[in-house]
Amino acid sequence: MASNEVKPTAKEDENAGNWKDSIFNPRTGEFCGRTAKSWGLILLFYLVFYAFLAGMFVLTIWVMLLTLDDYVPKYRDRVPHPGLVIRPKQLDMLFNRSQPLQFNTYVQTLESYLQQYNDTEQERNEACAAGVYFEQEGEVGEQRKACQFKRSSLSRCSGLSDSTFGYAEGRPCVLLKMNRIIGLKPRGDPYVNCTAKRDNPIQMQYFPSEGRFDKMYFPYYGNKLHERYVQPVVAVKLLLNKVDYNTELTIECRIEGSDLRNNDDRDKFLGRVTFRITVKE
Ligand SMILES: *[C@@H]1O[C@H](CO)[C@@H](O)[C@H](O)[C@H]1NC(C)=O
Ligand SMILES: *[C@@H]1O[C@H](CO)[C@@H](O)[C@H](O)[C@H]1NC(C)=O
Ligand SMILES: *[C@@H]1O[C@H](CO)[C@@H](O)[C@H](O)[C@H]1NC(C)=O
Repeated sequence: MASNEVKPTAKEDENAGNWKDSIFNPRTGEFCGRTAKSWGLILLFYLVFYAFLAGMFVLTIWVMLLTLDDYVPKYRDRVPHPGLVIRPKQLDMLFNRSQPLQFNTYVQTLESYLQQYNDTEQERNEACAAGVYFEQEGEVGEQRKACQFKRSSLSRCSGLSDSTFGYAEGRPCVLLKMNRIIGLKPRGDPYVNCTAKRDNPIQMQYFPSEGRFDKMYFPYYGNKLHERYVQPVVAVKLLLNKVDYNTELTIECRIEGSDLRNNDDRDKFLGRVTFRITVKE
């Protein structure tokens, strides 16, 4: 029976010894096949290597921050064409002209939006020459002047003579403005043209006359440099008649007469805006 016992062979013994030795070999003092000195060198190498990488990273960020300008955004990958924005900020308007409760929010929106165009406030700004860009050299960080835009220039849509902006008479005004884009100088003479999407046109009145965005309001120098800047606004009064009430009207307004884009397939607010309005009586 004893002769049947399986003894570990010399070879297996040796293998086990090798395996243990490969973790720590007491004879040579190696740990995982390397001496303490070798390990130390490896650790030192990686320490230096990673310190170097971290240094490179910090240096890169620092250099990039140095190249950033406080006043002008460095990367402007968005197309330098402005969107057209409407006030009241509502693409679907519905109200009964005989019920002030239904249009009061629109009127209040317009009234509070036009606060910044208060005539007395605007008189502190420059009376600029019409039809020319108001370009200003300036020291780094120096405030740029702003051109006046008085709300009284919106005449019947100014809310001054008619405090309901035409809503009570069923001939409502909406305001249109372009998004601010730093440095934008539109070529030509941009103006707003609104059309009803149906066969017979709707009469409209534009303020300032012909719905123009005067060149004097360009270029814009940015939030920090141009604190008193106000965007030019075009008011459109819809001269609705009896047949136009109690039915939904779709109105499209575009910036025309300039190089500003107004027909981008992907962005339907670039240089244009479409809104719906129903006036009941
Ligand atoms: C706007 O101007 C009028 C006078 O023209 C003044 O009475 C009123 O206080 C001004 N409002 C603001 C908000 O500046
Ligand atoms: C306004 O747009 C309509 C439709 O595109 C066009 O027929 C009309 O001539 C334009 N009006 C002006 C003043 O550009
Ligand atoms: C609008 O309001 C007037 C007065 O309250 C009312 O007589 C009329 O029926 C309303 N019109 C509609 C279409 O609801």
